[in-house]
Amino acid sequence: MPTLAILSLLFSSTTAYRWVANQPGVDSSLLVSRSNIKRQSGSSCPFNADHKPAAPYTDQYPYTGAKNGLPGTGKGGIQVPAEGDEAHYFTPPGPNDIRGPCPGLNTAANHNFIAHDGIVTLTELLDAQQNVYNVGYDLALVLAVLGVAQDGDIVTEKLSIGCDATSRTSAIGLGREPGLNGHNKFESDASSTRNDYFLGNGDDYSFNGTLFAGMKGVADRISNGVFDREAMAATRSQRYDESLHTNPNFFFGPMQILLYGAASFLYELFPNYGNEGIADLQTISSFFGAQAKADAPGGWAHVPERIPEKWFSRRLPYTLADVVIEILALYLRYPKLFGGNIGTDNFNGLNTTFGIIKDGKLPDDVTAAQILCLLYQLGTMNVPSALSPVEELTEATLNWSIGKLNPVFKNAGCPLSPIEPK
Ligand code: HEM
Ligand SMILES: *[C@@H]1O[C@H](CO)[C@@H](O)[C@H](O)[C@H]1NC(C)=O
Ligand SMILES: *[C@@H]1O[C@H](CO)[C@@H](O)[C@H](O)[C@H]1NC(C)=O
Ligand SMILES: *[C@@H]1O[C@H](CO)[C@@H](O)[C@H](O)[C@H]1NC(C)=O
Repeated sequence: MPTLAILSLLFSSTTAYRWVANQPGVDSSLLVSRSNIKRQSGSSCPFNADHKPAAPYTDQYPYTGAKNGLPGTGKGGIQVPAEGDEAHYFTPPGPNDIRGPCPGLNTAANHNFIAHDGIVTLTELLDAQQNVYNVGYDLALVLAVLGVAQDGDIVTEKLSIGCDATSRTSAIGLGREPGLNGHNKFESDASSTRNDYFLGNGDDYSFNGTLFAGMKGVADRISNGVFDREAMAATRSQRYDESLHTNPNFFFGPMQILLYGAASFLYELFPNYGNEGIADLQTISSFFGAQAKADAPGGWAHVPERIPEKWFSRRLPYTLADVVIEILALYLRYPKLFGGNIGTDNFNGLNTTFGIIKDGKLPDDVTAAQILCLLYQLGTMNVPSALSPVEELTEATLNWSIGKLNPVFKNAGCPLSPIEPK
């Protein structure tokens, strides 16, 4: 189709909006050109010449014993950082250190559980998620593999937790590696405390005090100030609606079910003793780096993310089986359509089937087991390009992800993709 070919040429510099650009009737003036976009990337991405890997785990302070990318004991209820484990005490980032859209990883970097400059490895991500938060090995693997495959490098297994630092993450020749700031890969619209890419003129990664105040407002209204499941379900719904009504380029695809997973981390991973503790304002603001300040936007300034004093990880691991239950509960409280805007408040449901998502919806009787398989598919398949605004992952990347994920999904009851022989 010539018109589509021309459109895709016109918008080749705005591949982030390919899905939108190809829609009939799209108003192309709504598409921001790359030159307009302020981003913490390229030459402006911080560079720390003194890259130090994560502080190593010692026999004295083993946490869950997770090391070298392997499963630990899964036994949490551990003080983090341990008294005396000075290597993991809070160390604020300097101007040359990269931070990004993920409060959980920014916090881990500020405590040297992953590399302090923000150029991290798959191994560091696997160990830190287990040792700091007692994330189950299976969930830790899914998140880390998605992060590295979408935004990092499958040969070096390195990832920037923020801006594009390709020269430091890449093996030669795999192309641009955007880091976790990369839009519509892992990072999405309708985040709880980060701008939509379009609305923030490309800043989809910074803490936004107005949005934090909005999330707190929901918790105050619904759950007496606690960021629990009920409050986070309402926050997700509110942020979706805000994007729908204000962002002409709002995109909410299958990958966005991960936003519900992240929302559950506030009450499953951040509280003292995790799910046994209370997701109160003091705890949540410490992990988000939110500090009350009267003259800051929304009344909340940003300070470096930090583990609260005398904080203990959850006792039992937070596994894949656990997170899919929470994703489902949060989503079903206020079900939303998958799709995108082609203008403010002009929403088009996804047209193509992906896994169990049909006509922009999950089935009415969707189960946790189906969400589990959807996560596997997001990690191992390309979302059909008709409904995905992102460049497709290469065969090599998909094969790498399949090789990593198949072992933990082998008993999940999902049809597995084959690993390609060399
Ligand atoms: C390798 C593991 C991980 C990766 C690659 C990762 C990546 C990301 C990315 C890209 C986002 C932005 C999504 C968006 O809102 O657009 C995000 C959000 C978030 N992440 Fe992580 N994450 C990881 C692990 C964790 C862990 C272990 C925690 C908590 C302990 C965590 C907590 C959060 C929270 C609360 C948000 C939502 C922030 C908001 O909506 O404002 N993440 N993560
Ligand atoms: C923070 O979010 C609010 C609400 O979406 C927005 O109006 C404001 O411009 C954002 N601030 C920054 C600095 O991006
Ligand atoms: C869905 O697909 C059909 C056929 O390809 C097309 O005519 C229609 O415009 C699409 N709808 C949306 C919302 O994209
Ligand atoms: C696919 O990945 C496996 C490891 O999981 C590797 O042995 C194999 O060589 C890869 N194949 C291709 C074509 O890259």
